[in-house]
Amino acid sequence: MPDPLIDHHLGPDDLAKALREDVHEGLTRRPRALPPKWFYDERGSELFERITRLPEYYPTRAERALLAANAARIARSTGADTLLELGAGSGEKTRLLLDALRDAGRLHRYLPADVSGDFLAASAARIAAEYPGVRVHAVVADFERHLGLLPREGRRLVAFLGSTIGNLEPERRRGFLAELRAVMAPGEALLLGVDLVKDPARLVAAYDDAAGVTAEFNRNVLRVVNRELDADFDPGAFAHVARWDPRQEWIEMRLRATRPQRVRVAALDLVADFEEGEELRTEISAKFRPEGVRAELAAAGFAAAGWWSDGDFALCLAEV
Ligand code: AVJ
Repeated sequence: MPDPLIDHHLGPDDLAKALREDVHEGLTRRPRALPPKWFYDERGSELFERITRLPEYYPTRAERALLAANAARIARSTGADTLLELGAGSGEKTRLLLDALRDAGRLHRYLPADVSGDFLAASAARIAAEYPGVRVHAVVADFERHLGLLPREGRRLVAFLGSTIGNLEPERRRGFLAELRAVMAPGEALLLGVDLVKDPARLVAAYDDAAGVTAEFNRNVLRVVNRELDADFDPGAFAHVARWDPRQEWIEMRLRATRPQRVRVAALDLVADFEEGEELRTEISAKFRPEGVRAELAAAGFAAAGWWSDGDFALCLAEV
């Protein structure tokens, strides 16, 4: 069996540079903020896997059940022979879609794209071994910067699952969807997983679990900055905060300094003083309404082609 092909649009140097820029900008602006993509080193990815199994964190289970129940219909209605997955996840949802495409009689290619090269190489090799006859062509890329470089092979179903789109602020979401639409061909489709607006108490619980796993996940970004940029954050001096913003309809995660402190980021020659109670924003996770999703997709030039939901989460299919 041939080894899966891997294109690299992001090297370790690009990632290091992006982290430096994000941390410099995020710690010098007010209110301070760090982008959520830096949660996911090896430990952060493991913590996220644990989050997906928490009783309070329903989105992963909800999306998996929706895929299990509807993947066959989705595969048939798209006529796709290629699955392009943005942000290749743990693989379980990938297999549901790949199996459905195979059962529909057409599965030629799997194109996973992710910022983490190691992770991608391992999952691409696994899928290549499990699906003989399927060409696996992986791409190390950032979905906010390299959409134009993704392989244009076959008739693609583009999957962007897990409500990861909710990490983007509305303006960036608009840009992302418009760019994605521009690199898709007629007959191709987008499958989007979106978490829905619901009782704020359930939303807050999903981001502030009783076992404290999400709190550790949140603090992990400080450990990443410590290791990569030679900083001296004391993760124990920051409290986990998860808040529902009813106006923006998003969950915001923050880290609150529990005492005044001075943080040095040696690699940036930067000193950041935190007042007691000062908060650093680490993530937004937008929640959606059906009409909002439809409007955003239509504004980007997509046509609605399907909507499956359990009331908590939805899979939305859109066509070009
Ligand atoms: C993987 C980005 C969709 O926003 O729900 C889980 C990440 N953050 N708990 C989300 C996350 C806190 C997750 N996404």
